[in-house]
Amino acid sequence: MKLVTCGLPYANGMLHVGHLRTYIPADVYVRYLRMMGEEVVFICGSDCHGTPIVVNAEKEGMKPEEFIEKYHEHFIRVFNALDVKFDYFGKTTEEHHHERTKEIVKRLIENGYVYKKEIELAYCEKCERFLPDRYVEGICPYCKSPARGDECDQGCGRHLEPGEILEPKCKICGNNAVFRKQTHYFFKLTAFEEFLRDYLSKLSGTENALNYAREWIGNLKDWCITRNLEWGVRFPLDESLVLYVWVDAPIGYISFTEKATKDWKKIWLEGKAEIIHFIGLDIAYHHCIFWPAMLKGSGYSLPSAVVASGMVKIEGKTFSKSRGYVVWVEDEYLKAGFNPDYLRYYIVNYTSHDKDLNFSWDVLKDKVNNEIIATLGNFLFRILSFAWKNFGKLEMEVEDRVLERIKETKEKIVNAINKWEFKSASDAIMELASFGNVYFQNSKAWELLKSDKKKAMKVVANCLQIAKALMILSYPVMPKSMEKVAMAIGLKLSNCSLQDALKVDKEIEIKKPELPFKKIEDEDIEPLKKILVERFSGKINSEIALEDFKKLDLRVGKIMSAERIKNSKKLLKLIVDVGDEKRQIVAGLAENYSPEELIGKLVVVLVNLKSAKLMGVESRGMILAVDVAGKPILLTPEKEVKAGERIK
Ligand code: MSP
Ligand code: ZN
Repeated sequence: MKLVTCGLPYANGMLHVGHLRTYIPADVYVRYLRMMGEEVVFICGSDCHGTPIVVNAEKEGMKPEEFIEKYHEHFIRVFNALDVKFDYFGKTTEEHHHERTKEIVKRLIENGYVYKKEIELAYCEKCERFLPDRYVEGICPYCKSPARGDECDQGCGRHLEPGEILEPKCKICGNNAVFRKQTHYFFKLTAFEEFLRDYLSKLSGTENALNYAREWIGNLKDWCITRNLEWGVRFPLDESLVLYVWVDAPIGYISFTEKATKDWKKIWLEGKAEIIHFIGLDIAYHHCIFWPAMLKGSGYSLPSAVVASGMVKIEGKTFSKSRGYVVWVEDEYLKAGFNPDYLRYYIVNYTSHDKDLNFSWDVLKDKVNNEIIATLGNFLFRILSFAWKNFGKLEMEVEDRVLERIKETKEKIVNAINKWEFKSASDAIMELASFGNVYFQNSKAWELLKSDKKKAMKVVANCLQIAKALMILSYPVMPKSMEKVAMAIGLKLSNCSLQDALKVDKEIEIKKPELPFKKIEDEDIEPLKKILVERFSGKINSEIALEDFKKLDLRVGKIMSAERIKNSKKLLKLIVDVGDEKRQIVAGLAENYSPEELIGKLVVVLVNLKSAKLMGVESRGMILAVDVAGKPILLTPEKEVKAGERIK
């Protein structure tokens, strides 16, 4: 038996494409395991505690309960739409989750792994409260970047322990916080160094996570596991405190398993199952260090593998909600009406699982049109329509060579899936589809139809076997689409095993095939690309330092000449006097200004912009203009000044 879990999404925001890198490959993995005959339990749920949730609920004037419910329902909706099918999707606010958490913490206390200590904590005298985690902002003691109470999010990325942050400020009222003494409880992580060294040498999973964790072993620190909050799981020894969210969240893996299966004890207490965690690399420390130590210290079973994905980037930029580099799954992808299976394929096929993945609308279009549609869809549709039009019913007689080729593909997939190499598995599918395309093309079945109908039927039977294999083998990646395609041959994919790809039926009856794939056109993705661009530029307005502004060489320029550029409706080639020289600058003004009216005009020029070529014409500098509904309006000095005057 195997238990597969996914990092629990914080019930603190909508799902973005970054999140899906945990959930989609895990779902694909579980579907393949089941088709290989494995018994699998697949669970996840909302992570509902922690200060960000309290802070944000407060900001929106909501109770934390209502606030998390909104996101919990959103998660369920999106996972359904994407065919990510958990056996149980819970919430860490569930009562039995609180009970399980307290039970485990009590065991840690009994076993001597929890101690109390007086520490200095940020306290706001105006709000009269201690400031846990995100209630405080300040400076990272290690790299001196601006940081949050529990994490140096803009600098070195370190986890910060309570009391570590420098120059703390209260996030609620903005006042400087003071440090006050208070008693808190610590988990003796340092006692697990030897255990972890040994455990991590045996743990299976992706190398990125294991290497990352191994580097930390020499550097363990005890963890403060209590917080001054009302929201969370009460700490058994002092009910005025709650447990740190990273104590109760992973215990969700246990409490949700309890809901999913009667066999939960076999999994979590008797060591009779493999436990496999799917996460993103950002939370590898918690899963490879903190969590196994907690399990060990309380006598529960240990995970056998941690499968960590690389991080997702958006249009080549590091993912960042605050900077606008984010794509929202429901509002942007699903509402635009794209087939969910396209995104499933993109995420498993773009690159190997442990590498960073770039999401780009143009790449989505390319992959869908050239791979899913031109290779796989083309073969399936061509052969199914051909068979339907010309035969209706086929006696199946399949060459060994074809069965051999299918078997090879199936084995490649099984090997790849067992190593979490989802890209190799999905590549193998596309290779089989290409093989099918070539096979059909070379057979010239449409000519045989006239000369030797029996032979034509044999060719088509072989192609149909390949088509059937493709439906079965790609079902875990594109479940909804393949279910639709498979109706043409009356195949119920949810009952199939991978082995069935090799099973040859006596005969197959063909119904009119339906292809669930629609090409992505430029106009489908233009608005989405625009949303991103606008969001990026909207966010640039964050503060910059005066010395950054001073790096811009802005000057008044005088336009000396202007002419149209061949084959371009928009561009003009200008020669502009910028004081010490005359510059050639290409500007997109031709639709709104005639060359004649521009000559002699004073404009604002960014002189030290990197030079570039537009339509093959060199441009050195940029003319500043206001964009009003897509039309440029030039900026010009209010009184006559000399060309070359600096703008400060
Ligand atoms: N609540 C914690 C996990 C607790 S597990 C006991 C958390 N939540 S999250 O909402 O931030 O992330 C949920 C999952 O998505 C995690 O597996 C996380 O690694 C993954 N990702 C979130 N953003 C990501 C990217 N930009 N790229 C890749 N994966 C990312 O972490
Ligand atoms: Zn730092």
